[in-house]
Amino acid sequence: MAQINPSILSADFARLAEEAEAVRGSDWLHVDVMDNHFVPNLTLGVPIVESLARATDTPLDCHLMIEDPDRWAPQYVEAGAGSVTFHVEAAAAPVRLAREIRAKGARASMALKPGTPIEPFEDLLPELDMLLIMTVEPGFGGQAFLDIMLPKIRRTRELIDKHGLELWLQVDGGVSAGTIERCAEAGADVFVAGSAVYGAEDPAEAVAKLRALADAATADAWWACGH
Ligand code: DX5
Ligand code: ZN
Repeated sequence: MAQINPSILSADFARLAEEAEAVRGSDWLHVDVMDNHFVPNLTLGVPIVESLARATDTPLDCHLMIEDPDRWAPQYVEAGAGSVTFHVEAAAAPVRLAREIRAKGARASMALKPGTPIEPFEDLLPELDMLLIMTVEPGFGGQAFLDIMLPKIRRTRELIDKHGLELWLQVDGGVSAGTIERCAEAGADVFVAGSAVYGAEDPAEAVAKLRALADAATADAWWACGH
């Protein structure tokens, strides 16, 4: 079944616990950490992740858009994140970092910006629990989905199948009722949605609708036969 991870970047930061509650039943809460260096925006850090982890039962999927994740990512595991994603463009030693995240007890995930190809990282995939393909330039919510990322999603799904990996394939950026089916058909199985969820009148209903669209598209997808 498709996993839908609402992004709290589009939520009300003064009411995070209530905003988490508003999407109860989601698989994960997606938490965008931005440092104003790796991306031109600034959001939140370890203390807020720690508080949010205490305030909700939904596991936290922390997406670190920061410089020097080798130094900071382990602290997000200690803060209570169930999954920690670092950007390969910022990591000095991605294999060492993925192993450290796993050793500390979280799922290890690596993200690729739109301009970063998947092919050089084929041999690293067994070290990861999830791969995140950005479908917008990271930094802001509410941007338009980049259709040109669909071939990269397809090629990544082929690599996952080729190696028989249990790797989740996440997409993030511009995912909505209008684009989620294309992502699922191409091979994604974890979907981040910010404005499409928190911009809706009923966020929980928006999650359910996105999940239904993704599940239906996956059932017909080339890659899901026999899955
Ligand atoms: C953007 C963030 C996304 C953002 C997505 O850099 O990584 O998680 O919240 O927002 P939408 O779904 O509105 O594109
Ligand atoms: Zn994100």
